Amino acid sequence: MINAKLPKMFYGGDYNPDQWPKEIWQEDMRLFQLAGIDMATVGVFSWALSQPDEATYNFDWLDEVLDLLADNRVYACLATSTAAVPAWMAKRYPDVLRVDFEGHKRKFGGRHNFCPNSPTYQHYSKLMARKLAERYHDHPALAVWHVNNEYGGHCYCENCEKQFRVWLKKRYGSLDQVNQVWNTSFWGHTFYDWDEIVLPNRLSEHMNGDRTNFQGITLDYYRFMSDSLLSCYQGEYDEIKAITPHIMITTNLMGTFKPLDYFKWAKQMDIVSWDNYPRFDTPMSMIAMRHDLMRGLKDGMPFMLMEQTPSQQNWQPYNSLKRPGVMRLWSYQAVARGADTVMFFQLRRSVGACEKYHGAVIEHVGHENTRVFRECAELGRELTLLGDTLLDSKIQSKIAILFDWDNWWAVEMSSGPSIDLKYVDQVHRYYEAFYAQNIQVDLIGVDTPLAGYDIVIAPVLYMLKPGYAAKVKTFVERGGSFVTTFFSGIVNENDLVTLGGYPGELRELLGIWAEEIDALFPDMNNQIVMNETYGELKGAYNCGLLCDLIHSEGAEVLATYGSDFYQGMPVLTRNRFGKGDAWYVASSPDKQFMQDLVRELCGQKGIQPVVQGPEGVEATTRTKDGKNYLFLMNHNNSAQKLDLGETSGRNLLDGNRYGGVIQIKAKDVLILEV
Ligand code: GLA
Ligand code: ZN
Repeated sequence: MINAKLPKMFYGGDYNPDQWPKEIWQEDMRLFQLAGIDMATVGVFSWALSQPDEATYNFDWLDEVLDLLADNRVYACLATSTAAVPAWMAKRYPDVLRVDFEGHKRKFGGRHNFCPNSPTYQHYSKLMARKLAERYHDHPALAVWHVNNEYGGHCYCENCEKQFRVWLKKRYGSLDQVNQVWNTSFWGHTFYDWDEIVLPNRLSEHMNGDRTNFQGITLDYYRFMSDSLLSCYQGEYDEIKAITPHIMITTNLMGTFKPLDYFKWAKQMDIVSWDNYPRFDTPMSMIAMRHDLMRGLKDGMPFMLMEQTPSQQNWQPYNSLKRPGVMRLWSYQAVARGADTVMFFQLRRSVGACEKYHGAVIEHVGHENTRVFRECAELGRELTLLGDTLLDSKIQSKIAILFDWDNWWAVEMSSGPSIDLKYVDQVHRYYEAFYAQNIQVDLIGVDTPLAGYDIVIAPVLYMLKPGYAAKVKTFVERGGSFVTTFFSGIVNENDLVTLGGYPGELRELLGIWAEEIDALFPDMNNQIVMNETYGELKGAYNCGLLCDLIHSEGAEVLATYGSDFYQGMPVLTRNRFGKGDAWYVASSPDKQFMQDLVRELCGQKGIQPVVQGPEGVEATTRTKDGKNYLFLMNHNNSAQKLDLGETSGRNLLDGNRYGGVIQIKAKDVLILEV
């Protein structure tokens, strides 16, 4: 568990005393006490301060800060400060600077500005991590390590190019093998020497963004970059672990962040943490899905909510305020889905540079008499009241949705069939249908065991990795229900098509053959016409985006296309296989279809919603020591009634008992011990 040192949920966030005179530090401590803050993430961007030149280290300021925190019973989430290199380092060792997608060598500036394959960066970042661990291993404030910050981005420098070749040699052994998996006989690309291989960017294989001439090359480059950054993380991790084996180490992730394969990363993290910054138009179901994904990275282990804004962001086009109650509501949403900390960026609003208009617990006015501070202090009071009740509680689900980064990369760098095919959107469409019905779902990776689940859904399972088809077959044979969609089973892990008919290795399991794939323009659609009512599925629905033209090879045809030249061909099939069944949804359906499909699947397995409530009332259950904690969260702007049926329990937040038909106020949260 994250908080061995304090029997409650850590509450706090990024704290940058290094940007402030010392008089302010004392005032900060007073305000932290008032707000119930007991955790400060310190040192995230302080490399230049702690190491003013190559030979000098100066941690006096940090000694003082950590002592002050300890004196005030605030714990430190101690950052290694390696996410922004000092200017002196960039000047003296230009190899630390990145080369961008366009081929420009970057100058000093910004942050997350280091080349992961720079020997200088690797050396000095590890050294910094070790020095911090040596100095603070016994410090009473130290509670958790925060390596770097929001790793990400790509580099196209010469060091990276050389390392890419090394990475390829390790993965493939021979150049012949590389030529084969990249299919370099296409457009005369055969490589005869490793040095002929260059990085895929605007100067070589790329048109716009992800669109590449050679999916195999770009896919491997993405893997390589994710691995390169991971090895920077690992380098620091190893240094720290050797000195403080008992302290948890994390780095803050970013939810559905494309460049890094977080399932791979999470294996190297003691605890997952992530930063929740929805855009102004992000649906609640998407935020919920990201929490579930972050929980899924380590098979359901609770995670840290490392950052969220108490009020507003600065980097969106329109940075609206979180309305009264929303910060509390969204904090509990994170907890309801597995967070064991509630933390902000940031505790005090900075005075200059680009984050001065980013929300903070302490506003520019400097005192506690603000709406934001009052709301933060009220939440702080509640979290103190909750103590350790919820810590380490788990979320149980019989349904899994597969999420795979390699698949995501491959789907979106594919040239054709449609630029509108977005992997996360497709996953979210399925997720949303469960979310709307308050049915708990896990987001899982390809390595997650399937045995505990009744239903596994793999939207757009375009890339089938070795062994995955067999894994799914076993799952279905033993009684599971598997659902996949159009554009699935198409390629292997190198983006080479599995010949002999789509959906390749899944063809037997699904009992279908997809002969062609039609891409629809945004304003076009087709229909899913049910042959007859099938449980919850009835009548006709709309569909679009892609339409696979499929033939049944034994699967039961439940619905056919309603129009176009493939009218009458199957669009929804179900194949009995062993004790279970495998469904194929050959196009991208409307919301009504999703809702009905989810109801049907869950009905067949006897899976119940946590609570059936009005729209916008989200419900989840966390379980610990045989007790269930039912979270009810009203995202609406008005009070809502809901029927708890037989369920009743004491609300941990106000001590009152709730049962039967209850009323939940606008933006309010109940946590019932049931
Ligand atoms: C990220 C970073 C923080 C800060 C916030 C602002 O999450 O980790 O340093 O820049 O964004 O939203
Ligand atoms: Zn580089």
